[in-house]
Amino acid sequence: MRTHDRLRIAIQKSGRLSDPARDLLARAGLSFRESRDRLFCYGESLPIDLLLVRDDDIPGLIAEGACDLGVVGGNVLEEQACERLADGRGEAFRPIRELGFGRCRLSVAVPNDWEWTGPQRLAGLRIATSYPQLMARWLREQGVEATPVMLSGSVEIAPRLGKAEAICDIVSTGGTLMANQLKEVAVILESQALLVAPSQPFGDERAELAAMLLRRLDAVMSVRA
Ligand code: PRP
Ligand code: ZN
Ligand code: MG
Repeated sequence: MRTHDRLRIAIQKSGRLSDPARDLLARAGLSFRESRDRLFCYGESLPIDLLLVRDDDIPGLIAEGACDLGVVGGNVLEEQACERLADGRGEAFRPIRELGFGRCRLSVAVPNDWEWTGPQRLAGLRIATSYPQLMARWLREQGVEATPVMLSGSVEIAPRLGKAEAICDIVSTGGTLMANQLKEVAVILESQALLVAPSQPFGDERAELAAMLLRRLDAVMSVRA
């Protein structure tokens, strides 16, 4: 049973958000004694520990109370919030700060040689994505019916594999699209890294730790802005 006199922050183990998240926490005065497997980093300067996990697992860990705060992309957070809503599960986490890094967008992309005439161009086609909820919401808004093809990674390869005609995935630099002869035709969601907390306030020592961390983060971010 974990005690609640320490705070746990989950960040991405490796990926676009990892280094900027660690830098931000370091500038807020947090330092860690790394464990050998480096997935759990014990907080030395403050009773705040770091957990290194898959980004997609962060909202769920917060919902379960396994972690107290997390740094995760708005894309992942919004997808999982939609999923909870669709399943009839309650709201369990919410963004409390925009962190200003990890900017990207969730976009629809099609082969370079297509003539793009608008969303109706996708009607009846297969679209590969790792974001089925956000894609379905956008298609509904556009009044377009298409078939989702779920892939958890390397979505950009789906057209070449013959698994889908179009894709809906994260675009950051655009390099992956270009390398796969795809072009971006519609932006579904603009995203950046967010600090995420449970919807229910902490009813113990963690509340004060979290408030202190937020004051420090706000100070660090106001200097940078
Ligand atoms: C995204 C997306 C693309 C890539 C695009 O992955 O899935 O593969 O980045 O970036 P680019 O436009 O700069 O080429 P992400 O970093 O979100 O990692 P994950 O899907 O493994 O979590
Ligand atoms: Zn991921
Ligand atoms: Mg990806």
